[in-house]
Amino acid sequence: MKKSSGNMRTRVVVTAGPTREHLDPVRFLSNPSTGKMGFALAAAAAKAGYETILVAGPVSLPAPEGVERVDVVSARDMLAAVRKALDGGKRRVFISCAAVADFRPRSVSGVKLKKKAMSAEIKLVRNPDILKTVGSDMAKGLLPETFLVGFAAETGDALAEAARKCREKRLEFIVANDVTVEGAGFAVDTNKVSLVFKDGRVKSLPLMSKREIGRAHV
Ligand code: PMT
Repeated sequence: MKKSSGNMRTRVVVTAGPTREHLDPVRFLSNPSTGKMGFALAAAAAKAGYETILVAGPVSLPAPEGVERVDVVSARDMLAAVRKALDGGKRRVFISCAAVADFRPRSVSGVKLKKKAMSAEIKLVRNPDILKTVGSDMAKGLLPETFLVGFAAETGDALAEAARKCREKRLEFIVANDVTVEGAGFAVDTNKVSLVFKDGRVKSLPLMSKREIGRAHV
């Protein structure tokens, strides 16, 4: 994004952290995302003067200065918060950095399940894909035009997978994140990423702190 005196007229919505998909009040499906990458992006956006809304899954990080924070738990909560956050502002950018759980338990108990009453198999249903839903809401005119940026956490051919996700989710670019690289991915303060653009260009960045990556993106 280019810095200009008009930054305050652009709203940047960032998702960060994991989602939790509860089975009962004390058990859930989730992943190791700590929110560090997404919080660094939101901090950089606020510092650059953008109106910044950070939709955060359950993480233990303090809100960066100048950021409006919305805390959520599940993927469905996150989708509702993102839709609300994108329904305003003069220009909008959505950076989807959260590690959203793709599935949730089909049924959720309001009380702690007794071990004896539980089955060894948990029936799952698919969660909404937040980024894809925002794209299709835009296409249907339900959300205003927004510049869409994704992340792709990969353990295989990161660039090819990221390019596929960039096309499928109709993104401007996607940040390919090979989480098997030392110092990259979940729960560390650094990351090593490549930006894969919709026209096929690739820009690989060296190992950098997540803060530096935030500053490089915004
Ligand atoms: O939080 P940290 O500990 O700092 O770790 C950072 C990170 C590894 C979580 C981050 O850098 C990262 O790679 N985030 C994306 C993780 C991910 O879920 O990737 P994905 O390839 O499964 O999803 C592709 C894109 O679709 C992502 O932009 C994701 O936010 C989005 N998505 C995925 C599933 C879903 N149901 N809804 C979505 O919007």
